[in-house]
Amino acid sequence: MAQSDESVLNYDKLTYAGNLNNLTSLRNDERHLFVQGDICDGEKLAALFAEHQPRAILHFAAESHVDRSIHGPAAFVTTNVNGTFTLLEAARAYWNTLDADKKAAFRFLHVSTDEVYGTLSAEDPPFTETTAYAPNSPYSASKAASDHLVRAYHHTYGMPVLTTNCSNNYGAYHFPEKLIPLIITNARAGKDLPVYGDGQQVRDWLYVTDHCAAIRRVLESGRVGETYNVGGWNEQTNLSVVHTICDLLDELQAKPTGSYRDQIKHITDRPGHDRRYAIDARKIERELGWKPAETFETGLRKTVEWYLANDAWVAQVQSGDYMKWVDLQYSNKEQA
Ligand code: DAU
Repeated sequence: MAQSDESVLNYDKLTYAGNLNNLTSLRNDERHLFVQGDICDGEKLAALFAEHQPRAILHFAAESHVDRSIHGPAAFVTTNVNGTFTLLEAARAYWNTLDADKKAAFRFLHVSTDEVYGTLSAEDPPFTETTAYAPNSPYSASKAASDHLVRAYHHTYGMPVLTTNCSNNYGAYHFPEKLIPLIITNARAGKDLPVYGDGQQVRDWLYVTDHCAAIRRVLESGRVGETYNVGGWNEQTNLSVVHTICDLLDELQAKPTGSYRDQIKHITDRPGHDRRYAIDARKIERELGWKPAETFETGLRKTVEWYLANDAWVAQVQSGDYMKWVDLQYSNKEQA
């Protein structure tokens, strides 16, 4: 919000990873309005569209954790597929009420993932916007389905849509079910640092504010109906990411004896685990002049420092259902 004077209506269901404390800095900002709700609630969406007359929708709402999609895929189909459909329908009904100028200026920006492209071998070139979809997990399949719906609303109804497919994000306020915040918080708590399988899977990491900047660029200047891949040009094996976090913690908050690396434990691999993701982000750089500002070194240091300075936030999000998830996902996962 610091980048513009426009008001923002923030619509969120506040499920397990949603947290109003993440919005504390906006509490006294009159341009920001929070409404709790579900993207599957078409009536509520229609009322909000009618009342607030938005010029754009930024659709971030999703179930996003691959491991949770393996344990319980239904929520992923409900939120990611049905939810996107319901939001598209509400947006279309509203869009049809606009005059020609406002209709042309309206944007529906769908935030998606590189996982829709499936997995790469070590020699494959990175994913481009024309790489064929081959999603491998219930999560990525549900995101792929939502991408197709968004695309269809442009081709069939002419709705001015944009889609971004981004690589792995990291940074402050990241819910500690994902690799980087999980490793930081487990390390500090003296717990095991769980590495799936051999830890040689590769991800392309992007600092979260770089992702935000990319979304802003696409919203401002992206070509309607196009998709843009967003990535950090930063491929790392999981084990290397875990080692770097341990080394940063050793530097910033050393243990009385030994290294945080001593806590690393290889555990049973994720079923259907994608081996490598990598993004070719040349289109968004060529067309919209976006490229990441942060390096992995600077971004990861900022991230570790943020977690070191925000114990209360970590304690709050790790209460309640979080512990049930940790138990379901990590107990009895000794590697054979
Ligand atoms: O590529 C973009 C995607 O990145 C997003 O669409 C997803 O919403 C986001 O969750 C992320 O998916 P990943 O499955 O790559 O992220 P995650 O942090 O769960 O895992 C990163 C890698 O680390 C992956 O290869 C699995 C591995 N891992 C993860 C956890 C939680 C471990 O080795 N141990 C763990 O405990």
